[in-house]
Amino acid sequence: MVEHGVEVSQVLGKGASLLVAAATLHDVGYAPRLAVTGFHPLDGARFLRDEHGADERLVRLVANHSFALLEAEERGLREALEAEFPLLEDQLLVDALVYCDMTTTPDGERTTAGERVAEIRGRYGDDSVVGRFIRRAAPEIFVAVGRVEGTLAAQPRGG
Ligand SMILES: [Fe+2]
Repeated sequence: MVEHGVEVSQVLGKGASLLVAAATLHDVGYAPRLAVTGFHPLDGARFLRDEHGADERLVRLVANHSFALLEAEERGLREALEAEFPLLEDQLLVDALVYCDMTTTPDGERTTAGERVAEIRGRYGDDSVVGRFIRRAAPEIFVAVGRVEGTLAAQPRGG
């Protein structure tokens, strides 16, 4: 995931270090001691903001990673998330984090977004909160990953 971030960051210019930081920290909210709401993007972003005074754009990326707003909606937390951590307007940066997250397995192997979504559905079940979220988010995930792949494909390759 982080190596992935380094690769993608080459097309991001000034956003590069921000992407690598977000790719490294986006799931920090899964740490049991940080679980307050039990919604890891929000718990992680609050931790980075409140305990580390992290960069505002970094915490907004973490809070919104991989269409977290849609899962927040399933959990009744959308208003809280939007109010505290508005989505960044830098589409390529937001997409790049989706790409890093959704083309890497939980073990850190490369995968496709289609396989990743299928794995999440299988792991959580379609009737769960995460299952409902991922089915709603899947079309958006595929579009975002496609945009990043298009950007990467358009890059001239160095020798
Ligand atoms: Fe996550």
